[in-house]
Amino acid sequence: MTRDLSDILNSINDVNNLIAIFLVICVCIFTTQAVMDGTPGNVIISPVSVSTLLALIQQGALNNSRRQLSQVLFSGPRQLKEGYRKLIPDLLKAGENGTLEFANGAFFMEGFEILQEFKKVLSEDFVSHLETVNFSESKEAANTINSWVAKHTHNRIKTLISPESLSSDTRLVLANAIYFKDLWKTPFIEKYTRDESFYTQDGSEIKVPMMHLDGSLKMDFIESLKSQWVEIPFKGDQFSFLVIMPYNENGLDELLKQFTAQHLNDIISNLKNTYENKIYLSLPKFKLSTTTPLVPVLKQLGLIDVFNMNSNINGISKEHLEVSDVIQKAEIEVDEKGVKATAATGKINMEFLSLADTFRQGRILRATGGSPRKLQKKKFII
Ligand SMILES: *[C@@H]1O[C@H](CO)[C@@H](O)[C@H](O)[C@H]1NC(C)=O
Ligand SMILES: *[C@@H]1O[C@H](CO)[C@@H](O)[C@H](O)[C@H]1NC(C)=O
Ligand SMILES: *[C@@H]1O[C@H](CO)[C@@H](O)[C@H](O)[C@H]1NC(C)=O
Repeated sequence: MTRDLSDILNSINDVNNLIAIFLVICVCIFTTQAVMDGTPGNVIISPVSVSTLLALIQQGALNNSRRQLSQVLFSGPRQLKEGYRKLIPDLLKAGENGTLEFANGAFFMEGFEILQEFKKVLSEDFVSHLETVNFSESKEAANTINSWVAKHTHNRIKTLISPESLSSDTRLVLANAIYFKDLWKTPFIEKYTRDESFYTQDGSEIKVPMMHLDGSLKMDFIESLKSQWVEIPFKGDQFSFLVIMPYNENGLDELLKQFTAQHLNDIISNLKNTYENKIYLSLPKFKLSTTTPLVPVLKQLGLIDVFNMNSNINGISKEHLEVSDVIQKAEIEVDEKGVKATAATGKINMEFLSLADTFRQGRILRATGGSPRKLQKKKFII
């Protein structure tokens, strides 16, 4: 699973590839094992939010801390700073009609001395909102941060930070919020939605509300993965939703084991050359909402030092800072009309505390699909 997460992070390395990023934002699915606590269930990961925060910390990291961040992010600080400087205006532009919001926020303790160079990177390269708060008044401070998150997620995520996670030792909270909402180009027909069979990862059958669409969509097969994909475009053709489904009802484990960023890149580059097919598509209607602590995953990926005494993020401040926690809240809602997806990631830096980063986690969706060809009774990965 570690490898898969690295792959996904790697795939967003190409920060100029907006389409890829949005596929990654909305679409990553992992099996249970991806979550370190081992609870069974579905996982939706939107790595952009996390990697943006990691890239921000990387800008102020030195020595081993920087090396470890560069390893996890697959790029050095200079390259990522350049990348984000180009990416963020594109994201903001892509969202000008309200489909997408992407925001970075940095909340500083009153009187905390932040280095001028880092402040400049925050506001100019990462287009961040900067605000001073008094973390000793933890309730007000949490309110300030949560209101900012709520505003940028259209009230879908209202509590990212709890007052208990803040104290007079807190120096800085970095947060990232992403919100996506768009309507399908061809909506599913509401009156056709009904409970139908869906096969879970272990092959057992459950009933879920299944939506139906009769239309022309791009789809293709990936023989090496014994899977097929279908692209469901949104109105305006600016974004699309990609679903990958194994041929076999119990093929999900195998698909997840083999799937890499390269496969995703291949699908994306093939999209242009793929013709639309008449398809009868069945997709579960679903809504997922999760909060994921990301520190264990990041540690497994080799990001260790920023969370302990060895932390060196003195490019942010001369004070010793450690990352205390990384938490991601994510939500996705898919229905007949379209998709709403939201994530907020928060990072708290505390004096003599450990680091945290936020990750967004969702669930793996398994659905029965139907098409005139091979989409009968299979699992979908969304
Ligand atoms: C960090 O790197 C700098 C420059 O390479 C070096 O001078 C310094 O000794 C290093 N500090 C630590 C704690 O390793
Ligand atoms: C936003 O809407 C306007 C007017 O409909 C359109 O011209 C423009 O291309 C849209 N922008 C995006 C990014 O879709
Ligand atoms: C922050 O809040 C604490 C507790 O209310 C107060 O003692 C302190 O003076 C405040 N700091 C600033 C800079 O206002």
